[in-house]
Amino acid sequence: AGSRTGPPSPGVEHPVNTAIHLFGTTFQNPVLLAAGTCGFGQELADVIDLEALGGLVTKSVTVEPRTGNPAPRVAEFSGGMMNSIGLANPGLEGTRRDKLPWLRDHLRRARVWVSVAGHSPEEFFQLVEGLDGEDGFLGFELNLSCPNDTRRDAPPFALDPPSVRSILSGARARTDRPLLAKLAPNDPDPAATARTAEEAGADGLTLANTLPGLLLDEEGRPRLGAGAGGVSGPALLPGGVRMVEQVRHAVGLPLVGLGGISGVADALAYARAGATLVGVGTASFADPRAGEKLAVGLHRWGRRKGVTAWSDLVGPSAGPVQKEA
Ligand code: SIN
Repeated sequence: AGSRTGPPSPGVEHPVNTAIHLFGTTFQNPVLLAAGTCGFGQELADVIDLEALGGLVTKSVTVEPRTGNPAPRVAEFSGGMMNSIGLANPGLEGTRRDKLPWLRDHLRRARVWVSVAGHSPEEFFQLVEGLDGEDGFLGFELNLSCPNDTRRDAPPFALDPPSVRSILSGARARTDRPLLAKLAPNDPDPAATARTAEEAGADGLTLANTLPGLLLDEEGRPRLGAGAGGVSGPALLPGGVRMVEQVRHAVGLPLVGLGGISGVADALAYARAGATLVGVGTASFADPRAGEKLAVGLHRWGRRKGVTAWSDLVGPSAGPVQKEA
């Protein structure tokens, strides 16, 4: 990322400062790979340059290792895809032993969030306590909104304000690391949930997870082994941007926007709505380098438009820039 700031001079190519100072650190650009789309980084290291990204969010970690839901676990449709992976992951011990050391040893510039998913508030606390003392990551993303947890016979925590409050405040008491709360896209009052998370100690919000859905074949059989699942991809873009816009006015927290982002225009829509960081998810399945290409694309876009700093485009400080658009 470039580092110069100030007004561009005609005829001179000015680098855009895509760096963002947040959560006590610097993201070299706003692009994160979303949870569940990049494993723990290592799985993609031969295919993409992870160090070209702002960062990544790991697959959600549960207390016990999980093999996941029955196949097929993903299905495509014209608006994107659906998944019901079922939180397959190596568990708390496996993550500590096999995954975090690799991240610690290989990533210097990209910032790492570890996603954690509990079946109860106490499991979230166990995960935060169990991982907090390790190196290799910046903070936690609390996955409060997995639609595919067949072990829990209840709506996701993100749709239950008392659960949001108790998980956030319990996690807050157990770590000084930054905490992102990942909310659900089908929340009827995302502003209220966001305020609850903020009051209980969240440092930022990730908006949002996949949208619950069901695909059936011509015989009426579910196309996913688990039955229902979570919708991701282009179909999520307008709802995601709207949610960011709604939440931005309700809280003072930085927002990570994701859902349907593949190119520069998508990322800018989220930024203009109020997201400081953006996540690339489903687009990486079609092109593993989608996140890396987006970071380069944002840089080029800024240079072409004479934007000197990404942060000028984002959130409440973007007022005058928004009017120009
Ligand atoms: C899954 O592993 O089934 C998806 C997790 C999520 O969407 O939170």
